[in-house]
Amino acid sequence: MDKPKVVLGVSGGIAAYKACELLRRLTESGHDVRVVPTASALHFVGAATWSALSGNPVSTEVWDDVHEVPHVRIGQHADLVVVAPATADMLAKAAHGLADDLLTNTLLTARCPVVLAPAMHTEMWEHPATRENVATLRRRGAVVIEPAVGRLTGVDTGKGRLPDPAEIFEVCRRVLARGVREPDLAGRHVVVSAGGTREPLDPVRFLGNRSSGKQGYALARTAAARGARVTLVAANTGLPDPAGVDVVPVGTAVQLREAVIKAAADADAVVMAAAVADFRPETYAAGKIKKKDDKDPDPIVLVRNPDILAEISADRARPGQVVVGFAAETDDVLANGRAKLRRKGCDLLVVNEVGERKTFGSEENEALVLAADGSETPVPHGPKEALAETVWDLVVDRLS
Ligand SMILES: Cc1cc2nc3c(=O)[nH]c(=O)nc-3n(C[C@H](O)[C@H](O)[C@H](O)COP(=O)(O)O)c2cc1C
Repeated sequence: MDKPKVVLGVSGGIAAYKACELLRRLTESGHDVRVVPTASALHFVGAATWSALSGNPVSTEVWDDVHEVPHVRIGQHADLVVVAPATADMLAKAAHGLADDLLTNTLLTARCPVVLAPAMHTEMWEHPATRENVATLRRRGAVVIEPAVGRLTGVDTGKGRLPDPAEIFEVCRRVLARGVREPDLAGRHVVVSAGGTREPLDPVRFLGNRSSGKQGYALARTAAARGARVTLVAANTGLPDPAGVDVVPVGTAVQLREAVIKAAADADAVVMAAAVADFRPETYAAGKIKKKDDKDPDPIVLVRNPDILAEISADRARPGQVVVGFAAETDDVLANGRAKLRRKGCDLLVVNEVGERKTFGSEENEALVLAADGSETPVPHGPKEALAETVWDLVVDRLS
């Protein structure tokens, strides 16, 4: 089988060097990558690096190898075009259909999915011209990854940093897997909760659970690759931030509730994949609880935590908002799942069986998605991303 053909466009931003790692990941995972840098990009990383790492020729202008008509052919044959970093200038050119070098010509001739990973100073990113260009590109179906917040070129920090290349690679992988389908969550805001809450007993101990957060992160990643603006409320995960996703870290169930309700105010969908503790210790000891040699330990009294899924299902922040819950069950999975769907009042409930070596921490999952309308969608054993895609398919059906 032919390798998928990826065009890696690199424009003239300080983050151009990070595209070398993206290129490495693409080639090592079996993609045929043609790097098309702009002339400005070559001030940052030279053509020799791009050519040696990709194993393909590199040019910036339409005037090289004219007999092969590269300004048309490269775009026509691509399965994916990703531009990382995409400068403010490149976004403006792409939005307005300019074609004064090989990369801008390629963007006009490509009929495959296009991913743009902007990186620039916060002022440039926030400028109304850039905002409008990004909106235009998104409206036309490009996946424009939100820049990360962090250290920029100089000593300053803010929004505008290129996300981690490993995470841009994940977006590319998801977009390639979906093919030429429209990014069907474009213009939508979705909220995903992930991880497991920790309910503190004292400054060093907590009651927690085994959730790794991987399923929630897969949901966030896949939604971003389908064009959504994503808020990920992450409880104690320690996983890298997915590219283009706004991550809100939380610790306890009460903090998770607050963050989810705030983010859900303008959300089209809320997916509660986090494992939220049902109970928390009634009291919190300000100092470490000491062992007393001659006495049994004091019992831990638990109190109920808020039922966030039931609350947001009953009190939708906006009409038509789709709410999805997860039910991790150890036994009688189906009956418990059906009862939970009714009790919680959500639109969809993803039911899966969990155990010490099942689901938690693993890269794979198997589930049944129960819907309030009575339908059931089985998702066979496979990567957590496959389950995430099915959840978004079902959410999109309900949004439209
Ligand atoms: C040191 C340096 C760093 C730059 N970093 C960025 C950047 O991160 N993002 C950006 O939009 N422009 C950046 N620029 C400005 C672009 O290089 C400039 O707009 C150029 O015309 C972009 O050309 P291109 O879009 O054809 O690559 C930088 C310029 C310099 C000199």
